[in-house]
Amino acid sequence: MNTIINDNPLRQGMRLKRLPQPCTLIILGATGDLTKRKLIPALFSLFKQELLPQQFRIIAFARRPKTTADFVADMRQGLQEFAGIAVNDRQAEQFLALLHYHQGDFTEIEPHRQLAGVLQRYEAENGVPANRLFYLATPPSQYEAIVQNLGAAGLANSNNGWTRIIIEKPFGHDLASAMQLSGVVGGVFREEQIYRIDHYLGKETVQNILVFRFANGIFEPVWNRRYIDHVQITVAETLGVEGRGRFYEETGIIRDIMQNHILQLFSLFAMEPPAAFDATAVRDEKVKVLKAVKPLSPEDIDRKIVYGQYAAGSLLGKDLSGYLQEEGVAPDSITATYIAMKLYIDNWRWAGVPFYLRAGKRLPKRVTEIAIQFREAPLQIFGVAARDEIAANVLTLKIQPDEGISLKFDSKVPGPGGNIRPVTMDFRYGTSFGETPPDAYERLLLDAMIGDSTLFTRADENERAWEIITPALEHGQKLSVLPQYSAGSWGPAEAEELLKRDRRAWRRL
Ligand SMILES: NC(=O)c1ccc[n+]([C@@H]2O[C@H](COP(=O)([O-])OP(=O)(O)OC[C@H]3O[C@@H](n4cnc5c(N)ncnc54)[C@H](OP(=O)(O)O)[C@@H]3O)[C@@H](O)[C@H]2O)c1
Repeated sequence: MNTIINDNPLRQGMRLKRLPQPCTLIILGATGDLTKRKLIPALFSLFKQELLPQQFRIIAFARRPKTTADFVADMRQGLQEFAGIAVNDRQAEQFLALLHYHQGDFTEIEPHRQLAGVLQRYEAENGVPANRLFYLATPPSQYEAIVQNLGAAGLANSNNGWTRIIIEKPFGHDLASAMQLSGVVGGVFREEQIYRIDHYLGKETVQNILVFRFANGIFEPVWNRRYIDHVQITVAETLGVEGRGRFYEETGIIRDIMQNHILQLFSLFAMEPPAAFDATAVRDEKVKVLKAVKPLSPEDIDRKIVYGQYAAGSLLGKDLSGYLQEEGVAPDSITATYIAMKLYIDNWRWAGVPFYLRAGKRLPKRVTEIAIQFREAPLQIFGVAARDEIAANVLTLKIQPDEGISLKFDSKVPGPGGNIRPVTMDFRYGTSFGETPPDAYERLLLDAMIGDSTLFTRADENERAWEIITPALEHGQKLSVLPQYSAGSWGPAEAEELLKRDRRAWRRL
């Protein structure tokens, strides 16, 4: 039974007014970067807000020999670095007391059997149900071994409670490997136990796409081909590969950003209204819109996709080396660090509306946004001179870093003249709510503990996303060189051409 809490205003504000049942979180790969930088700070924040269950424990599972005391010391240092806690923070010490370190190799069955023993003893001694949440914070190469060993150790189900598994992105390296992994995971866990994480869905601004569209009456009527000229989705990073060249060579921008984050934003933006706000209804609609994406045919791929790779350049006065000079990168690498794509959705709402999607590293600014450009007014009554001053209306959903929504519209410049100039109306999260949004992992960890998978990716959704980008991946592998762009610029000239051919231009951000 879930507990209904009425006394705590913070809990009252929770969407479902629910707290997780007593449970144990088992983090596999707990000595890694993700755990220290994201998971432990997010769990500590939930702890401080009293959103974790009363009986809760974290088992940290990794390969390095360590004692629990060693691991706690590492996490204390991590909280100082990433959550800004002071030395001897009382709450942090209470939280750190929930940790237990379990050493072992994921490729061996024995550490998983021992883990089963640890869990059973803890649950029996404390009289708590066997509710277990496994979090795979490991390199993807370990997923299959872990899942099979969890299954073989009898950890995929428990008689007295629930078992769920969170799997980090990337889920698969391409369509075939995603299906193969789905087969392995699906052979051990049922789909409703599997939580494929894309942390973008935990961002407040991403969830707000649905609230903005479906809680307000005025936007939905214009959310279609009749009023919208085109849509631009941008995920721009200033960072390069940050010493992880070898990892990036295997990944590239298409797998790292386009297959997951951008297609998630795209599907939430373009989906039909779901019948209810629940995991099945929302994800059914997301899959439906992804299925309606017009496949990129070999004939038009050159006109719809632009690849790029950053060359040496400079950003904020700092000289930066090119991708090919990064450590771990092959001198003749054809891994893309930039991609721009034009997609169409073949359904009644979106037929003929181009969606321009772009993502890149070493761009001039870190920004993620969806910009909706509306059609121009049908008749210009302000004369020929004013026509040049009038800009199309643009609604921008700013995902990060300046979270908010802004609407650009034309306004009369004060004074006796008839001049017109675009102005913006801005909503900012920080100003309106007086607080910075919580980290995405807080929300997602809590949802997984509660059993709400709405903000997690379903197998069919993930596979359809791979299908959409497969032609881009395959075509990219046939190229011998990629268009270059200077680090600190907005991408290759070919990307400008992509829109210029349609008499449009990328937004200057
Ligand atoms: N880092 C991020 O910010 C971030 C963001 C989004 C997604 N992700 C995803 O999250 C996952 C983890 O990323 P990460 O950066 O934390 O990786 P990482 O720093 O390389 O950590 C890997 C962890 O896995 C453990 N491990 C690897 N092989 C093992 C084995 N055979 N047996 C036992 N333990 C083993 C390592 O333990 P030992 O070191 O003790 O051997 C370590 O704890 C990846 O799928 C990544 O794509 C990460």
